[in-house]
Amino acid sequence: MRAIVIARPGGPEVLELRDVPAPEPSRGEVRVRVRATAVNRADLLQRMGVYPAPPGSPADIPGLEIAGEVDAVDDGATEFGVGDRVFGVVGGGGYAEYLTVHARTLAPMPPGMSFDAAAAVPEAFVTAWDAMVDQARLTAGETVLVHAVGSGVGTAAIQIARAIGARSIGTARTADKLERARALGLDEGILAGDAKFADEVRKRTGGRGIDVVVELVGGAYVAQDVACIATKGRIVVVGMMAGPQCDLDLGALMRKRAEIRGTMLRSRPLEEKILAARALERHLVPLFARGTLKPIVAKVLPLAEAGEAHRLMQRNETFGKIVLEVG
Ligand SMILES: NC(=O)c1ccc[n+]([C@@H]2O[C@H](COP(=O)([O-])OP(=O)(O)OC[C@H]3O[C@@H](n4cnc5c(N)ncnc54)[C@H](OP(=O)(O)O)[C@@H]3O)[C@@H](O)[C@H]2O)c1
Repeated sequence: MRAIVIARPGGPEVLELRDVPAPEPSRGEVRVRVRATAVNRADLLQRMGVYPAPPGSPADIPGLEIAGEVDAVDDGATEFGVGDRVFGVVGGGGYAEYLTVHARTLAPMPPGMSFDAAAAVPEAFVTAWDAMVDQARLTAGETVLVHAVGSGVGTAAIQIARAIGARSIGTARTADKLERARALGLDEGILAGDAKFADEVRKRTGGRGIDVVVELVGGAYVAQDVACIATKGRIVVVGMMAGPQCDLDLGALMRKRAEIRGTMLRSRPLEEKILAARALERHLVPLFARGTLKPIVAKVLPLAEAGEAHRLMQRNETFGKIVLEVG
């Protein structure tokens, strides 16, 4: 099969299209003929050699999400048959024509959705749903602050917030992304080029503060989150593009009885990945089928141009997901 292989740790040029043996499904697994995959920040780190693949995933083929057709089924996998259109989050190996995964980590694709669009869904929407709804318990009538609102996860979070009846405030470093996010249901945008937004959030919540923060940026943003979190508010740290360190006012955190928690999909054990896939099938697929949620695709490139896709992500210019068409 054709696959993008990380030839050695380095820049986008180390991603090489090669012929490699296709994997065979083992107990409980299906093999998927991947039609499209999408790019994630973790792929960039794996390519640089600082974020090794989790156990059980190919060490040198990146790719954390796929959409495709079931191509072979092990006797122990009863959920899908050959030819079923499936999508889901995987531990790695998505930049390839074939991939084997535990059947229950996949979900059926929404009816009528293209493979390119479906590949833009799993990682962004599962991460956003899991962090914001399952972990931070966002409910109707509450207000959520979504940072990097033009990111793959950000564009998913604001759509989910609208779908469940929550109000959303988003930050971005460019006005254009805030404008585009408004078209997806973002209620209010704050330009946060200077990483300072707490005063503005307090103002826009009538001094009450924010109920939930989907923290995709990390670094100094987290101290600002604590400064504008409401009493009993919940901050979920999902990403750290601005760095892993911050200086926190623990007194404010205690006075407000607020929570900060971290989350990561990629490192979870199989049983938790299965739960995430069930949330995709049960809560998100119906919202896509109804048109309430939409995959946001910034760019589609052929698999062979994976290096160019990584460069594009590094430039921070995209709004939504970068999809790689496997064909
Ligand atoms: N924990 C998990 O399981 C999990 C799963 C998926 C993703 N993530 C994380 O979630 C975050 C978003 O991922 P994604 O794939 O959705 O991102 P993405 O589509 O690549 O978008 C990232 C956006 O963030 C903004 N940004 C980049 N560096 C920044 C910085 N230093 N300060 C402020 N803004 C910055 C940029 O937009 P502007 O500058 O124009 O606003 C950029 O376009 C990443 O940190 C990723 O690692 C975590």
